[in-house]
Amino acid sequence: MLEVKNISKKYRSHEILQNVSMHIARGEVVGLVGQNGAGKSTFLQIVATVMSANSGDLMLDGLSYNCNLKAIRRQIGYVPQEVALWEQLTVRENMLFFAKLSWTKLSEEQCRAICVNMQLHEWDKQVSKLSGGMKRKLNIALSLIDDPQLLLLDEPTVGIDLKSKTEIAHFLTQQAKEHQKMILYTSHDMKEITTYCDRVYIMGEDSFYYDYLQEKGITIGKM
Ligand SMILES: Nc1ncnc2c1ncn2[C@@H]1O[C@H](COP(=O)(O)OP(=O)(O)OP(=O)(O)O)[C@@H](O)[C@H]1O
Ligand SMILES: [Mg+2]
Repeated sequence: MLEVKNISKKYRSHEILQNVSMHIARGEVVGLVGQNGAGKSTFLQIVATVMSANSGDLMLDGLSYNCNLKAIRRQIGYVPQEVALWEQLTVRENMLFFAKLSWTKLSEEQCRAICVNMQLHEWDKQVSKLSGGMKRKLNIALSLIDDPQLLLLDEPTVGIDLKSKTEIAHFLTQQAKEHQKMILYTSHDMKEITTYCDRVYIMGEDSFYYDYLQEKGITIGKM
């Protein structure tokens, strides 16, 4: 279970997050929506431990972020909004490079299985020659190397064709339902959000999102 309580974040005097609280239970796929600049990526970075909040508490599976950062980082897979890959290396080389840096030291076979499971079959292709959607899939595959319990994905399906988008969404749902993972992801594709998320949090005061989600019968979390 992820529990976030009263997080606040300022960039200089610019207040981005004000007393934000939320939770994710095991097996849940939770969406995070809101206008551009609402603070979604900032929030994900804080939960991913790559940025710290000015105040508030975070707990993952009963461990506080205050004194268990190392253990918590092992449980988190984070896919940032911008794709971050070694462009001159192949898919295989990227996977093996990150596997080497990881805790679990997966074999080549295990790395390949993650890609295949994501319908990413271009194992020996140089990343610079992959399509945008394939790069996004590889970015997600890299985040799965340590078999994280909490997956944080910032717009994982942006610019991706419908087939790949559906494959990614199915994959994430399968991770949550069959392996009891916790998944939090942002997207501006409201159809996708309403199709695949168990619950949705809206960042910022926004009646447009609220009315839309309510009409679709989606459980809306207050932040
Ligand atoms: N490093 C930074 N320094 C100063 N301000 C920042 C920084 N990063 C983000 N911001 C500001 O914080 C606010 C929230 O940005 P954030 O990227 O979290 O929004 P977002 O909801 O993810 O938006 P989008 O939907 O466009 O991805 C914006 O006003 C942005 O300009
Ligand atoms: Mg963002």
